[in-house]
Amino acid sequence: MPAVIMDGKSLGMKIRLNLKGKTELLQKKGITPCLAVILVGEDPASVSYVKSKGKALVEAGMKSRDIKLPFNTQEDELLSIINDLNNDKNTHGILVQMPLPKQINEENIINAINPDKDVDCFHPVSVGNMVIGRQGFLPCTPHGVILLLREYNIPLSGSNVVIVGRSNIVGKPLLNILIHKENNATVTLCHTGTRDLSYHTQRADILIVAAGKPSLIKPEIVKEGAVVIDVGINRVSDTSSPKGYRLCGDVDEAVIEKASFFSPVPGGVGPMTIAMLLQNVLEAAERSITSFK
Ligand code: GUN
Repeated sequence: MPAVIMDGKSLGMKIRLNLKGKTELLQKKGITPCLAVILVGEDPASVSYVKSKGKALVEAGMKSRDIKLPFNTQEDELLSIINDLNNDKNTHGILVQMPLPKQINEENIINAINPDKDVDCFHPVSVGNMVIGRQGFLPCTPHGVILLLREYNIPLSGSNVVIVGRSNIVGKPLLNILIHKENNATVTLCHTGTRDLSYHTQRADILIVAAGKPSLIKPEIVKEGAVVIDVGINRVSDTSSPKGYRLCGDVDEAVIEKASFFSPVPGGVGPMTIAMLLQNVLEAAERSITSFK
């Protein structure tokens, strides 16, 4: 029997509707959650992500403060903008779309964002709080993956979870969240230095792939009945599509025949990431009430 397709689009919409209700309550107290979204340059994928984020914010009754900067922006200019946003009490979250042009050091930019406004959870303080399970923002994509697994009642406690990919945005934070006591999973993280990838993937009850390599995971290396979450977003050329490309994940679609549950690309984790971003913006705005009093 083919896998149950995990519908991140519907769950993401449901969460966003709920957030809209909470935003309206906050607006009655005179606060409109506001996220500053900074885009440097015109990388097509980044332009498209920023547009989706802005649209989702507005639909939820929040404010998107779009700051578009030219590709040749210097690091000190960006740092100065971030400093202003850090001090602006009407801006609750700051998101600098990555990647940045190479004259700007991403680490310096991340370090400059006030952790109270770090809705991406990229700042070392936010990451530290997440690792030790202290209150704070959770990173959007990993949090989205966890909620998607919970929605489909996938047991995490005691499960063997294998993550493929060690990025700071997905692999590393996901590993940390999954080993928190409330999730209680046993986690293996595979990366480009892993000697025998299939040895690990074949033992996964839950396989989460965020490697950025189209069709990396074929059915032969997936255990029968496994839960497979595809987090990869790759643009592959497709002359039959009007855009000249299509989006695909890191998992070969034939895995559907072997998995029990499958989160596809598009329509799986992507929409969950946006919902979690809005949740963090709302949380930042709610917290600002107490911190600015
Ligand atoms: N680039 C790709 N994904 C992300 C993300 O989640 N946040 C930011 N700031 N940049 C990204």
